[in-house]
Amino acid sequence: MFKFRFILAASLAAVVLSCSGGNEYGYKIKDNKIVYNTPPRPADQQSMLGFACDPIENVRVGFIGLGMRGPGAVERFCYLEDATIVALCDLYPERVEDAQKILDSHGVPRAAEYSGEDGYKELCAREDIDLVYLAVPWQLHTPIAVYAMEHGKHVAIEVPAATSIEECWALVNTSERTRKHCMMLENCCYDFFELTCLNMIQQGLFGEIVHAEGSYCHNLDPYWDRYQGDWRMIYNREHHGDVYPTHGIGPICQDLNIHRGDKMDILVSMDSGAFKGQETADARYGKGTYTYANGDNTSTLIRTRKGKTLLVEHGVVTPRPYSRMYQVTGTEGFANKYPNEGLALGGEPLKDVDVEDLDAEEYMSDAARDALMEAYQHPITREGGLAEKAKEVGGHGGMDFIMDYRLIYCLHNGLPLDQDVYDAAEWSSLVELTEVSINHGSMPVVMPDFTRGEWNKIDGLTFALKK
Ligand SMILES: NC(=O)c1ccc[n+]([C@@H]2O[C@H](COP(=O)([O-])OP(=O)(O)OC[C@H]3O[C@@H](n4cnc5c(N)ncnc54)[C@H](O)[C@@H]3O)[C@@H](O)[C@H]2O)c1
Repeated sequence: MFKFRFILAASLAAVVLSCSGGNEYGYKIKDNKIVYNTPPRPADQQSMLGFACDPIENVRVGFIGLGMRGPGAVERFCYLEDATIVALCDLYPERVEDAQKILDSHGVPRAAEYSGEDGYKELCAREDIDLVYLAVPWQLHTPIAVYAMEHGKHVAIEVPAATSIEECWALVNTSERTRKHCMMLENCCYDFFELTCLNMIQQGLFGEIVHAEGSYCHNLDPYWDRYQGDWRMIYNREHHGDVYPTHGIGPICQDLNIHRGDKMDILVSMDSGAFKGQETADARYGKGTYTYANGDNTSTLIRTRKGKTLLVEHGVVTPRPYSRMYQVTGTEGFANKYPNEGLALGGEPLKDVDVEDLDAEEYMSDAARDALMEAYQHPITREGGLAEKAKEVGGHGGMDFIMDYRLIYCLHNGLPLDQDVYDAAEWSSLVELTEVSINHGSMPVVMPDFTRGEWNKIDGLTFALKK
């Protein structure tokens, strides 16, 4: 944990609170703002912006973490022609065996098996693995990902990729030094509505996007008992802040070209009390055993360098309908995903689509929305019938398969990945930044720049397609 050190200088108007703890990636408080350090890039590292590795004919994959999430990925990879499942690893050998049965059911050869706390090290030592795919508890994401990159592997990490700013920098620095991809598996960026809206935004239908909202509001009551070693409840119990921000922030950062022309600059976070959270902890561990930290609802506002605003929300304990909100407000139109997918456009649609007169003060009819969605389907989901295949294979309605397909497609064709290590760091950084803001009475946080000054170097987000 950080060690706080006050530096009081009577001659300075501002009070500077230095929070170093020997950590060069810490923050100080200056003029009532929390300001994170961005240390210079070490000489043996290069930027990973736009990075592509040589094409990999067949991507050999090792899976680590086969609990609730991992086996679904194993199953999806059975459908990917340009990938081979080489190794499976979990703490528990019986979970590895269950995953082997998935391979059996698809007529795919069994994979090498690893188990125990350090089994992942043996997996990473193998020379015949190109990509390590991680679905372990949050606390292990960065340590295992760094280990895998150090052993010459590209990594794909479940969300969030990191739980602290120090870990975010560890991912960036290791990826830059080893020249290995480090992609966070932010699947919500691949849902059909989000992808189509992204395409519409890039083609100008919404005008300039001025505000966007995203959330993860999901009552996890049916799941708490199922996380291995209680890792998720422990994390929520011990931390304020938006501990699971990436489903909310990911798609809207793509819409706003974050680190591809704009930068998240200032963040302010506020949480409610832990009313239901404390009740849940009391019921689980006995009244008063633990003080539950995480607010029942956490709201975070971010302003970008170009003057756009984002609102991100998190809530996992109250009984309420699921909402992974995705909402964009532009100068010419509006899109909203939960509870119903709706579009409202003031301008004329660019493509030749037969819709009624548009009036942005009301949602257009479902028929008009569907016609526009069809006309603006994102090119990556048209490629090779991917949309249809994804719906057949499944995984949150298909978006998980699109994500895995794109990851392998880009590696196979030697293309830059859709999400880079800076996305992983920026989106995951909210875990610590929101907590620090809340712990200082919702003080504004000047967000770190993981690209080290290069956030304006790339002009807009592109999903690479082979020529
Ligand atoms: N993107 C999504 O939609 C989505 C959905 C669910 C979960 N997730 C993410 O997936 C990850 C896993 O979540 P989950 O719900 O499957 O949790 P889980 O507890 O069910 O699974 C974690 C697995 O990791 C294994 N593990 C723990 N330590 C290990 C070690 N040292 N080596 C190898 N394996 C180890 C556990 O035995 C367990 O099987 C989390 O990061 C979570 O946020 C993402």
